[in-house]
Amino acid sequence: MEIILVSLTLLTLILLVILVGTGGKPLTLVSHFHSFVAQVQENKIQLFVLSALIIFLALFVYSFYIMPHVNAGPVQPIAFSHRLHAGNKQIDCRFCHSYVDRAVHPGIPPVEKCLYCHNFIIPNHPEIRKEHNYFDTQTPTPWTKVFYVPEHVMFNHERHIKKDFECEACHGDIAGTDRLKHHEFKMEFCIQCHRKEKANLDCWLSCHN
Ligand code: HEC
Ligand code: HEC
Ligand code: HEC
Ligand code: HEC
Repeated sequence: MEIILVSLTLLTLILLVILVGTGGKPLTLVSHFHSFVAQVQENKIQLFVLSALIIFLALFVYSFYIMPHVNAGPVQPIAFSHRLHAGNKQIDCRFCHSYVDRAVHPGIPPVEKCLYCHNFIIPNHPEIRKEHNYFDTQTPTPWTKVFYVPEHVMFNHERHIKKDFECEACHGDIAGTDRLKHHEFKMEFCIQCHRKEKANLDCWLSCHN
């Protein structure tokens, strides 16, 4: 869907450049290419419009095609998307991260949980084949961890979730993200909320071990 939209816009822009460049007669581009070039050289304004449009086009391509990849997180062993699962399909975070309010580490769901659906949904998709592979060989999926606290910090989800904080309060818009980005929590972030909520600020006793 997005691709179609982008391609259509690009096509329209290219047509526009041709139309402006040929003074409204696009066919002259084919029949009089040389005189067209001469015409553009003569006419500085057309040249200006043309280069402005090309720069605009480049920025457009950059922001739609290149930036999302520069800005995305590490490539994961299976191309899993939270935007698709938690966003579009509205699967509850806790269906997959079941231990989030019971254990110190909520953990990443084992592949069995994926196959609960994917034994039936798109079972032959190449990415789902990878899941079967991990399952058949009893290999834990080697997901790359993305959310960190500095090593000496103790963090426990349980206490926080019991206080009814949304996952988004700390993790941001997970349900709108395809590939999660590396993020290291800074102490300032913890302290700010603890101050606001009048939670424990005695960090050497409570957060650091
Ligand atoms: C509750 C059901 C459910 C669970 C659990 C589930 N998925 Fe999915 N998944 C879906 C649905 C629905 C789709 C969309 C299928 C389609 O495009 O027709 C999908 C699509 C996918 C795709 C294909 C995306 C694409 O590019 O088309 C991948 C890869 C995937 N899931 C990986 C996983 C992994 C890895 C897990 C386990 C961590 C998982 N899924 C767990 C329902 C589920
Ligand atoms: C269909 C299963 C599924 C659902 C639903 C799901 N997740 Fe995940 N989650 C995963 C998998 C698989 C990974 C590991 C791959 C990755 O990092 O993208 C993961 C990774 C994460 C991580 C990063 C852990 C780390 O440090 O590497 C966070 C945070 C997270 N999920 C939060 C959420 C939140 C919040 C929701 C609900 C909005 C949610 N998840 C819904 C399967 C799921
Ligand atoms: C008060 C802030 C906060 C809230 C709220 C929060 N998290 Fe986290 N989450 C963290 C921090 C900090 C880490 C990194 C901790 C670590 O590595 O030990 C983390 C790590 C994770 C991880 C990776 C854990 C692992 O085992 O590697 C998952 C998955 C996760 N969170 C899911 C969730 C889900 C789902 C919710 C909502 C139900 C949620 N979190 C709510 C702060 C929060
Ligand atoms: C959105 C607000 C919020 C954020 C962000 C937050 N906390 Fe908390 N935290 C709380 C609240 C409120 C409590 C008190 C919970 C209770 O009373 O059970 C708490 C309790 C704790 C406790 C238990 C303290 C005790 O009394 O023993 C620890 C440890 C902790 N947080 C560490 C962290 C760390 C580390 C971070 C940053 C990675 C963090 N918190 C981020 C709100 C937050």
